[in-house]
Amino acid sequence: VGSRIVCLKETESTNQVAFKMAEEGAVEGTVVIADAQSAGKGRLGRVWLSPAGVNLYCSVVLRPAIAPMAACQLTFLSVVAVARAIESCTSLKPQIKWPNDILINGKKVAGLLNEMNAETEKVNFVVLGIGVNLNLRMSSIAESLLRHPATSLIEEGGEEVDRVAFTRRLLTELDELYDVFLQEGEGPVRAEWLERSAIRGRSVKVSQGEREFTGEVQGVDSFGALLVKLIDGTVETVLSGDVALV
Ligand code: BTN
Repeated sequence: VGSRIVCLKETESTNQVAFKMAEEGAVEGTVVIADAQSAGKGRLGRVWLSPAGVNLYCSVVLRPAIAPMAACQLTFLSVVAVARAIESCTSLKPQIKWPNDILINGKKVAGLLNEMNAETEKVNFVVLGIGVNLNLRMSSIAESLLRHPATSLIEEGGEEVDRVAFTRRLLTELDELYDVFLQEGEGPVRAEWLERSAIRGRSVKVSQGEREFTGEVQGVDSFGALLVKLIDGTVETVLSGDVALV
């Protein structure tokens, strides 16, 4: 990871650039970083606020020889890599919230968006999109633009974070985790994900469009789906949706 790094001043979305480069044959480990994004993409078609100079916006091209069903396991990698990088560059304690949120003191500090190009049987490539709020002053953002309570590392830790050092640490962690993933499968990374998870054993409300239900989080399966035990004892496998602690 990071064998080739493309740095851009401003682009619509690093995921979009990395996806296009991957389609044109970019090597595995290619990283696209932008100082600002004019159309940063969030999950579920939302916008990811991406002002210039303060945060990290990057996308990584991976080409694992896995089935499309297994590609969601790669989310474990970026989540754990970001959590490790935060711990290494600050004295903060990040928490993980399924499926791809990283929280500090209950507020979202990073978001991850994987996009995939696959055929029926195999993955051609996956783009791991990673956005981390580093030195963003939350007072500079209108509250109405924030869907969830959001924060940044400087707001929580009180100290400016060196963007280059943070990026280097993140890519190093990602590289190491990807090696483990390729050699040993998703088990070890998922175990670390679960250990760090803020929702294991907790009661949650799951929202899937119109449908809502509550239950207790049992864990995640090997495909990254959340396992939620309902009041009647059945376990629901949640592949997508929003989850909130109740
Ligand atoms: C989320 O909704 O939580 C996911 C946000 C993902 C944002 C990152 S920033 C870098 C990459 N490029 C994008 O357009 N999105 C991802």
